[in-house]
Amino acid sequence: MTDTAHDPTRGHTDPVAFWEERYRDGGGAGADRPNARLPEIVGEWPPGTVLDLACGPGGDTLWLAGRGWRVTAVDISATTTERLGERARERGLGDRVRAERHDLSETFPAGEFDLVSAFYFHTPFELDRTPVLRAAAQALRPGGHLLLVDHGDVAPWMSVDESHRFPTPQEVAHALALDPAEWTVVRADRPQREATGPDGTTATVTDGVLLVRRDGA
Ligand SMILES: C[S@@+](CC[C@H](N)C(=O)[O-])C[C@H]1O[C@@H](n2cnc3c(N)ncnc32)[C@H](O)[C@@H]1O
Repeated sequence: MTDTAHDPTRGHTDPVAFWEERYRDGGGAGADRPNARLPEIVGEWPPGTVLDLACGPGGDTLWLAGRGWRVTAVDISATTTERLGERARERGLGDRVRAERHDLSETFPAGEFDLVSAFYFHTPFELDRTPVLRAAAQALRPGGHLLLVDHGDVAPWMSVDESHRFPTPQEVAHALALDPAEWTVVRADRPQREATGPDGTTATVTDGVLLVRRDGA
């Protein structure tokens, strides 16, 4: 018998099956509010077009749409993108949200964006994010921003081994190797914040924040 207690894949070998199970079981948790860093960073920005990469339940998408952004939201789980479309319609935001299923290792959504945001785009399966994030940088309009917020450390409630090391924003920027004549790294740092886990536990957690602008506007 396989011991799944410390297995972040919970015995799955297929990422689609893993994320589908998680969203079928997890209901709508995460849809009611944006990630803490999103309002902090883009709260004062004028609305435009945004791509929410690996949107999950869609708290970021719904918050952005509520502030006038036109959002394309994509995720590997059809369960979560379909629910997000329904939630957007229920809130009268249906005309501002297009939720699409994409396995980003295979396909990337069409369009040009003022903002591409990817919050906690982590998976327990093998995934080379570099080509995805390079495609995201290419999908920016001149003057647009790529905002990547990663976990910077392992919070007590995560089903990840304590020794796991997430890439730093500097390492991600280095791997992206964007042409400095066209893209500027505006911010690459590791701020801390107080967070509350699903079981109510609180802890100080670190985020890895990378903000890149496509120049030429
Ligand atoms: C940790 S969750 C973060 C979700 C959301 N951004 C948030 O902050 O709540 C990671 C997300 O990545 C998605 N994901 C994992 N692998 C993916 C892939 N290959 N293509 C698209 N989405 C993927 C998962 O379905 C999941 O929604």
